[in-house]
Amino acid sequence: MKFFIDSADINEIKDLADSGLLDGVTTNPSLIKKQLDKTGGDFLELIADICKIIDGPVSAEVAALDFDTMLKEAEKLANIASNIAVKLPLTPAGLKTCKILSQKGIMVNVTLCFSAAQALLAAKAGATFISPFVGRLDDLSQDGLQLIEDIVDIYEQYPNFTTEVLVASIRNPNHIVESAKMGAHVATIPPNVIRQLYSHPLTDKGLATFVADWEKTGQSILAA
Ligand code: G3P
Repeated sequence: MKFFIDSADINEIKDLADSGLLDGVTTNPSLIKKQLDKTGGDFLELIADICKIIDGPVSAEVAALDFDTMLKEAEKLANIASNIAVKLPLTPAGLKTCKILSQKGIMVNVTLCFSAAQALLAAKAGATFISPFVGRLDDLSQDGLQLIEDIVDIYEQYPNFTTEVLVASIRNPNHIVESAKMGAHVATIPPNVIRQLYSHPLTDKGLATFVADWEKTGQSILAA
């Protein structure tokens, strides 16, 4: 499973990229606003800076809703760097733009997916990634993980589909583990949830015991 960080925070991206475990970045207009409210600056320059930190796909989302403007925005975003994945909404204009970009070899992340029917359309439009929002369905007491299972099952029926399931709107480590069990290709994870993945109280307790017992030996690995 590939791990993307769901953030536009340069410092968070750099910090977690140092782990060597990040495979990409996803942003969206809300994450961009959050970052620019803190730092000011220019959206396109922020995306360009993020693209220099991570070699993997960096999702940057269009703002327009109409096809003509969306296509112009998409092509401008794609020209920022070779690892840009243009993020497009799951709308008729978004999928029409997706079809054109994918035929040009430009990576596309189709976002705001909430149904298997929508995911089927995105695959037919040649999307590189489809982003089903698990957390926002769970927020409505619907079963976000069931959507992941449905999409993975449908895509597996059609070998000509190349779209990867990119699980988004992740709220906790369980979303990641259960999606991995289902064979989802990518999880885009908020920084705080990435850090939760490392944590287990028994790891902390066991390590404390190892450290204490090692100190009692009076030995040193490096001293010899
Ligand atoms: O960036 C797309 C998605 O991961 C956003 O999720 O629900 O936390 O805003 P959410």
